[in-house]
Amino acid sequence: MAEAAKSGILGVGKYLPERILTNSDLERMVETSDEWITTRTGIKERRIAGENETTSDLATKAARNAIEDAGLQVSDIDMIIVATITSDNLFPSTSCMVQSKLGAGTIPAFDVSAACSGFVYGLAVADQFVKGGLCKHPLVIAAEKMSTIVNWEDRGTCVLFGDGAGAVVLGPVEEGGILGVHLGADGVNGQLLKMKSVGSYDSGLARQAAREPDTIFMEGNALFKHAVKLMADAAVAVIEPLGLKGEDISLIVPHQANIRILNMVAKRLGVNPDEKLFLNIEKYGNMSAASSAVAFAEAVEEGRIKKGDVVLLDAFGGGLTWGAMAIQW
Ligand SMILES: CC(C)(COP(=O)(O)OP(=O)(O)OC[C@H]1O[C@@H](n2cnc3c(N)ncnc32)[C@H](O)[C@@H]1OP(=O)(O)O)[C@@H](O)C(=O)NCCC(=O)NCCS
Repeated sequence: MAEAAKSGILGVGKYLPERILTNSDLERMVETSDEWITTRTGIKERRIAGENETTSDLATKAARNAIEDAGLQVSDIDMIIVATITSDNLFPSTSCMVQSKLGAGTIPAFDVSAACSGFVYGLAVADQFVKGGLCKHPLVIAAEKMSTIVNWEDRGTCVLFGDGAGAVVLGPVEEGGILGVHLGADGVNGQLLKMKSVGSYDSGLARQAAREPDTIFMEGNALFKHAVKLMADAAVAVIEPLGLKGEDISLIVPHQANIRILNMVAKRLGVNPDEKLFLNIEKYGNMSAASSAVAFAEAVEEGRIKKGDVVLLDAFGGGLTWGAMAIQW
């Protein structure tokens, strides 16, 4: 049997809605302050999608950018995976809607539901398809319209989230590429972060039915502790079998939930957060699955990732779920 191909990232893309909601804007909506939000989370502003702009719209724009960045055409893509917890509808899946919007023929398309870890989960699935020779150019998109599932009267959560999308195209590579992955889940503690119903359209339907839409419930303090431990453990679970230590990682591109969590994870890994952590939480807040995807795209765009570098994606979120992936650029 032929040796399985290695897979790597051929192109990256992102899309952020134009509207910016600042901490001062939030001061006028709930009892909060720029000072509290900045010091407790690291967030200064976030993007909010338009009323008629759905998750699949954000995803499609990010996807087009990633395909262009890879130097490919839509016709080269042979699978679409969308990581999201804010699907346009319960079904059809957001990935099927993206397939239609891209004009990507009848290629397989499905969603991955792993909340903030969704991008790493989606990449891990796509990696297997490339390695197994079943796909050449899968598209992995992480897209969220968190603004539709946030309770805008709950200061404990509404200051945290934002909308956006990031995407990558994978493909076979001769050297480097995806070196290792670690995924995990803990359904027992899943009640710490949940929402009963889903969908960027769902809240619209709920309004039509004259009932209150469901919104995010989060036990922030308990999650904080799980996040620090599980993100650090996931990182170690990926790099140790590769014979690598924290210092061998050129850049950590984490899920951006809270700057204090990320600094603690860096400390546990024995790396200098100022040098090795890629942060964009200040501009976008927590975009669930899209956070690490947008961060990855921006790290590439800003030249923070150079040829030969080993980059670590590291995410934690609802489920509970977590995932880390080492990629050589
Ligand atoms: C949500 C989070 C930022 C809250 O920060 P915290 O330091 O734990 O704050 P607490 O929840 O303990 O609240 C402290 C105080 O601030 C208040 N507070 C909460 N939100 C506030 C806001 N937006 N503005 C002002 N005060 C606020 C609380 O009411 C509380 O007041 P009290 O002491 O009078 O009761 C933090 O817990 C967190 O980031 N958790 C992890 C999130 C995560 O990883 N999620 C999973 C991935 S999505």
